[in-house]
Amino acid sequence: MAADAPSPATPPPWAWWQRGVIYQIYPRSFQDSDGDGVGDLAGILRRLDYLESLAIDCVWLSPIFPSPMRDFGYDVTDYTGVDPLFGTLEDFDRLLKALHDRGIKLVLDFVPNHTSDQHPWFQESRSSRYNPKRHWYLWRDPGPDGGPPNNWLSFFGGPAWSYDPGTGQYYLHQFAREQPELNYRNPEVLEAMRHCLRFWLERGVDGFRVDVIWLLIKDDQFRDEPVDPHWDGYHPHGRLKHIYTANRPEVHAIVRAFRALLDEYGERVLIGETNVPNDQLVQYYGAKLDECQLPFNFQLAYTEWQAPAVRALVHRYYAALPPGAWPNWLLGSHDLPRLATRLGSAQARVATLLLLTLWGTPTWYYGDELGLTNVPIPPEQVRDPQALNQPHLADRLGRDPQRTPLPWDGSANGGFAPPGATPWLPLGADYRERNVAAESADPRSMLSLFRALTRLRRATPALQVGAYAAVESGAEEVFAYSRELDEERYLIVLNFGGRGYRLDLRSVGAGARILLSTGLERCGRVPLGSLELAPHEGLVLYVEAPRWSATTERHRPRTLP
Ligand code: NOJ
Ligand code: MG
Repeated sequence: MAADAPSPATPPPWAWWQRGVIYQIYPRSFQDSDGDGVGDLAGILRRLDYLESLAIDCVWLSPIFPSPMRDFGYDVTDYTGVDPLFGTLEDFDRLLKALHDRGIKLVLDFVPNHTSDQHPWFQESRSSRYNPKRHWYLWRDPGPDGGPPNNWLSFFGGPAWSYDPGTGQYYLHQFAREQPELNYRNPEVLEAMRHCLRFWLERGVDGFRVDVIWLLIKDDQFRDEPVDPHWDGYHPHGRLKHIYTANRPEVHAIVRAFRALLDEYGERVLIGETNVPNDQLVQYYGAKLDECQLPFNFQLAYTEWQAPAVRALVHRYYAALPPGAWPNWLLGSHDLPRLATRLGSAQARVATLLLLTLWGTPTWYYGDELGLTNVPIPPEQVRDPQALNQPHLADRLGRDPQRTPLPWDGSANGGFAPPGATPWLPLGADYRERNVAAESADPRSMLSLFRALTRLRRATPALQVGAYAAVESGAEEVFAYSRELDEERYLIVLNFGGRGYRLDLRSVGAGARILLSTGLERCGRVPLGSLELAPHEGLVLYVEAPRWSATTERHRPRTLP
């Protein structure tokens, strides 16, 4: 597909994970129901009206499994339970049923690369070199100098190896030392994990987001990694090129084994955390589209925020997709600085419009719909192991600032936790003005914009599944494109800059109706020959009597979903 050609239409029927919007909840910070200052499942259950009001289609819950919480649930001691901090399995079943009753799917966060060091499997594994579970993990003899077996690094600082005096060997962990990595070259490990997946599939979950899926298999010869000449100079883990700890070719067989299991259960979704460059990312769809349906695409979160750069990356991504693959986009997560902090509040609105109108499934991070910004965390309140292990880099690498409690109203603790409770992380200083209640009452708020966009998207099949076509805007700072389905054409125009424009978009059609603007103040008919666009404004327009170019004609899907 040429770089700026329209996206090929994918034939119907479309699955829920193609049409819908995914909403990530970080459970510790959504709603605390029992006053321990940590969000819980009963809290989420109390907020279903809110989730419904967002017109999202699927909730992805960050991990809720029993865990010592060294990495806040990404260190699991039991893959088939619920941590008491969050509730019980019965609470989980209640939540799942209540979400399903409202037509909302539920995706769990599955963490197969590593367990907690408190997991019984690791306890057994470390008990003796001859324990049957010894080779469930990656144990190596010390290097010649008695130090780590090779130069591999942890994302959380320091070597990826820790010495275990009991058995005189090192074990591998690319995150905290309390997160030993499993050995997927041992078929027993894969079988054990598939068993855990089944447990949740049988309960009715709609899919999984798989943590660090690209790291699951390491080099079988444990070779040293070379120094990266393009190192950014500050992130210690980036000093090496991770050619032996990441993206090993054998990983794809593991992903296929997960996917095959999901396919036994009908329409379930496998989402991969694939925090890798474009060319590697698209490989996680699988040669026969038999791996992830949605390998997460982080590119909008990392790009320089300029219209030409964003347009180029969108086209590069679409062009790289294997035939039949479905794209996806995200702007935030518990690992990324807040959207409004990265882009500022005006461009955060433009980015939201982009995310919810591009071709591809959008994933949204809780709280970004309020325009929450990173909350400064005083040193004594830092909780994130990535920051605690590298205090000199805490300002740049700490992830607590984007994980703070959701403010529901202007009361004590923002309604997140009962008055008198101490939230596990502080709320933002602006929570009395920036909260769900205040923004619901303000027709121009970020929350009102988010709701207007998700509702428009839900009511407009072309925005969900229609073909994408590039539109030449004539202005360097303006990214424009259309979404097309049957005889309908929607035009999206996004101003990435601080000056206004008058655009000539007659190539798309003569006139249009504004359906939504980022300012939530414009609507009605406009001429496309001289379309006014305010600074930092984004528009969704319905094109009246569209002009079809030869290419769009060819790629237009013909069937309504
Ligand atoms: C990726 C998760 O998103 C992150 O929060 C976590 O620390 C690491 N994987 C380790 O599980
Ligand atoms: Mg609680």
